[in-house]
Amino acid sequence: MESGKQLTGTLALAVFTSTLGSLQYGYSLGVINAPQKVIEKYYGQSLGVWSERATVLSGNSTEEPDLSVVERHPAVVMYWSLSVAIFSIGGMLSSFLVGFVGDLRGRVKGMLMVNVLAVAAGLLMGLARMWKPHIMVISGRAVMGFYCGLTSGLVPMYIGEIAPKAYRGALGTLHQLAIVTGILISQVIGLDFVFGNDDMWPLLLGLSGAPAVLQSFMLPLCPESPRYLYIVLGKEQEARKSLHRLKGEYDPTPDLEEMRREKEEADKEPRVSILSLIRSSVYRQQLCVALMMHLSQQLSGINAIFYYSTDIFTRAGVSQPVYATIGVGVINTVFTMVSVALVDKAGRRTLTLIGLGGMCFSAIAMTVGLKLQSEYSWMSYVSMSSIFLFVSFFEIGPGPIPWFIVAELFSQGPRPAAIALAGCCNWTSNFIIGMTFPYIQSLLDSYVFILFAVLLLGFTVFIYLRVPETKGKTFEEIAAVFQKGRKKLAQDPKDATELQQLKTSTDA
Ligand code: GLC
Repeated sequence: MESGKQLTGTLALAVFTSTLGSLQYGYSLGVINAPQKVIEKYYGQSLGVWSERATVLSGNSTEEPDLSVVERHPAVVMYWSLSVAIFSIGGMLSSFLVGFVGDLRGRVKGMLMVNVLAVAAGLLMGLARMWKPHIMVISGRAVMGFYCGLTSGLVPMYIGEIAPKAYRGALGTLHQLAIVTGILISQVIGLDFVFGNDDMWPLLLGLSGAPAVLQSFMLPLCPESPRYLYIVLGKEQEARKSLHRLKGEYDPTPDLEEMRREKEEADKEPRVSILSLIRSSVYRQQLCVALMMHLSQQLSGINAIFYYSTDIFTRAGVSQPVYATIGVGVINTVFTMVSVALVDKAGRRTLTLIGLGGMCFSAIAMTVGLKLQSEYSWMSYVSMSSIFLFVSFFEIGPGPIPWFIVAELFSQGPRPAAIALAGCCNWTSNFIIGMTFPYIQSLLDSYVFILFAVLLLGFTVFIYLRVPETKGKTFEEIAAVFQKGRKKLAQDPKDATELQQLKTSTDA
């Protein structure tokens, strides 16, 4: 069989096992929306805003507090906002550590180690009613965010390194497929008649740690990344064994040869830290592309839809917004599957351009719908269809591609630092949109999506001008695309000095 094209059972097992971490990330992203009102009641109780005993004494036979008062109480609002936001803060902080954790004992052991965090977070939330729920949930969400910041970098890094190049896009997109599946599962089991109710909400939140338990049993069966073994540790024999396990019986010479050349390159270059990557003009072009891809994913406004869809659907005149939100989850999953099928044929660049362009068009249509729905009732269908279209275009390219393209754009030396920086950029912009969207919405009202349309147009132009196609290329060939620019830089005396300084710092 042709080298580098085999899809074996072990490869499938390795990809499936690692994406359990992505499933957990998606579940944690989505789980906090549906049970908000139920959990706020318990926050109110533990903060002393209401008590069951006082309600009983006052003769209120329903024993239920006035929920609208509890929800609006400043302490409840503050602790609830913190429960949502602290997740992203945890992710922002830990995404910096992805390179360190991945290089410490390898990608597989890295994913295994960080599972301790996920299980601890699951327990804190699952046992929330045993102590002060607001403290337990906030601590659990912080730890879970910290875990997800790590996993959202480690999974694409591992998959990018073990995937045969012909399937690197499809397998890389499985990270996003697992994220969206996690979001969908959390939306469905978060319905009030499933787990989104008084009795079950701690279990609903606690379950976010469950995939980590399963993953911990499966990770020891997964081969370590051959690129880590050979290029980082210099263990050629172990890399060869790992290649055989991942690709079956084949001649690994071309793969090993490619890694040898990459190792030679990596040995010539310094170990690139996050700081030196930011400072270096050598990698500036790649870094700029990587960060812009992640910014375009988040500043497209996708999470405005995910975090506030119920509110947006209510404004668009939908009578059952919760089900429309689940509809978004389904569309989201289906179109990610479409992307899995297309990404290695159509290419990353084409799909990102179609996706961003389509989202820009949908954002304009959504604005027209929202603006005119008071005059023409049928316009609410326009708004609703544009929300669905917006999400579909996102999943065709701008959703999945940024996650794995960073691993493709950088060679082994700077890869971990680049993934860490891109991850941090993703988490930070996600946090900013989550926090500011309600204010922007109250400022711009129905025109809010015009803002995203303008940003989307800008990103489309940037990607058209600056992002090369990486489909079907080896890491070496991709590096060569940027090398041209780099050669020019090396001829510049200032940059030649910088390359020399970087080299000296490694040798030291
Ligand atoms: C991507 C984004 C994430 C978003 C999700 C929606 O994974 O990184 O923020 O919620 O897509 O499908």
